[in-house]
Amino acid sequence: MTTRTRILTGITTTGTPHLGNYAGAIRPAILASEDANADSFYFLADYHALIKCDDPQRIQRSRMEIAATWLAGGLDVNRVTFYRQSDIPEIPELTWLLTCVAAKGLLNRAHAYKASVDKNVENGEDPDAGISMGLYSYPVLMAADILMFNAHKVPVGRDQIQHVEMARDIGQRFNHLFGNGKEFFTMPEALIEESVATLPGLDGRKMSKSYDNTIPLFTSAKDMKDAISRIVTDSRAPGEAKDPDNSHLFTLYQAFATKAQEAQFRGELLEGLGWGEAKNRLFQLLDGQLGEARERYHQLMARPSDMEDLLQVGAKKARAVAAPFLAKLREAVGLRSFVNQDNFTISNSKKKAAKSSRILSFREGDSFRFRVLAADGSPLLLSSEFADGKKAGAVIKQLQSGQTLDIRTEAYGFNVWLDGECVAESSAFYVDAAQRDAGIEALRVALTPIED
Ligand code: TRP
Repeated sequence: MTTRTRILTGITTTGTPHLGNYAGAIRPAILASEDANADSFYFLADYHALIKCDDPQRIQRSRMEIAATWLAGGLDVNRVTFYRQSDIPEIPELTWLLTCVAAKGLLNRAHAYKASVDKNVENGEDPDAGISMGLYSYPVLMAADILMFNAHKVPVGRDQIQHVEMARDIGQRFNHLFGNGKEFFTMPEALIEESVATLPGLDGRKMSKSYDNTIPLFTSAKDMKDAISRIVTDSRAPGEAKDPDNSHLFTLYQAFATKAQEAQFRGELLEGLGWGEAKNRLFQLLDGQLGEARERYHQLMARPSDMEDLLQVGAKKARAVAAPFLAKLREAVGLRSFVNQDNFTISNSKKKAAKSSRILSFREGDSFRFRVLAADGSPLLLSSEFADGKKAGAVIKQLQSGQTLDIRTEAYGFNVWLDGECVAESSAFYVDAAQRDAGIEALRVALTPIED
């Protein structure tokens, strides 16, 4: 069985995406999501946005604009899990579990926090002036985003590499403290797209909102044209040879052109194409490639309830993964039901003595359930809820009868079936197929009748 790669990335919802965001992050992410061997999780990091912005209108507008940009850009929501961070209550819950194991000293070293402190000190202010706990804990929330879905690859800009490393650090610590030899969390890796050029802005510096040198992406053809007309060029007149390699207008063209278009444009510049005409060519190229998406963008923005529906579906998909996983993590740290005391009993008195696998029956509300534990006390199987104890007993008996077990795998877990009915599910969390299969093997061993 091939293991699929889980790709996850968040987009902080402040601001309106511009051409540089599109070429640098959005377009490559949409392309990556088309890989048949990848499962992509892309989300609007709107809790992160609150750290930097206390203007509700701006938060709301940006969430919509960013959602519409990704959708208009061709993101296929049937293939990708596309959601808003704030629709997943499991994320702040996991954030707290991680906050309790994250070392304060680790967070002291975060670049974003340190930069704010340095600036305060420089200005002769209190080191922590204006720094919220949100800013300070930013990397823990980001770790929860990543670890919640056991992402393998996290495409980010260079400034975020440290945060991904912190996610590893925090995840590892949690694994070590609560994993009991198992790894709850997969270790994520930052993915830096070397081949994606950062686009230059109108003045030749990196295109960025903070330099006020951006080319708008989907607002309107006119806005795009106006911005392009403001691209700074040298003063060579029409007819004079231009130097494509020292022209950021050419760099911009390159980022969207085919090799053939690029070669042609280069030739024309060398032959003295005027800058006005060159700007026209750039506009034609961009408009040709982005015009249709711009239409879609405006349609989406005009029907917010359609987007809301899509995002609700995304949230549902994401929560189907997050909720059962979080339940296991809560269990691991000791946030368990009072009704089901078996773990307590085992760890306190019987665990060390237990030499063979065991089956523990217990009541939960009005129903009857049981667990199968391996010889080392680790949970292997949790039964469904049965209305009466007799039924539960009969199922246990059948499972131990030595008959061939009907075990069906499902993602990284498995179910046990009897007479056309699913009677139990795996209770451990497995991070990959190999671990799951080992769990199935352990269950077979545990349920093999002992002959002595
Ligand atoms: N901090 C990231 C940024 O500003 C956004 C983000 C939030 C993120 N959570 C994430 C990116 C999880 C990758 C994975 O770019």
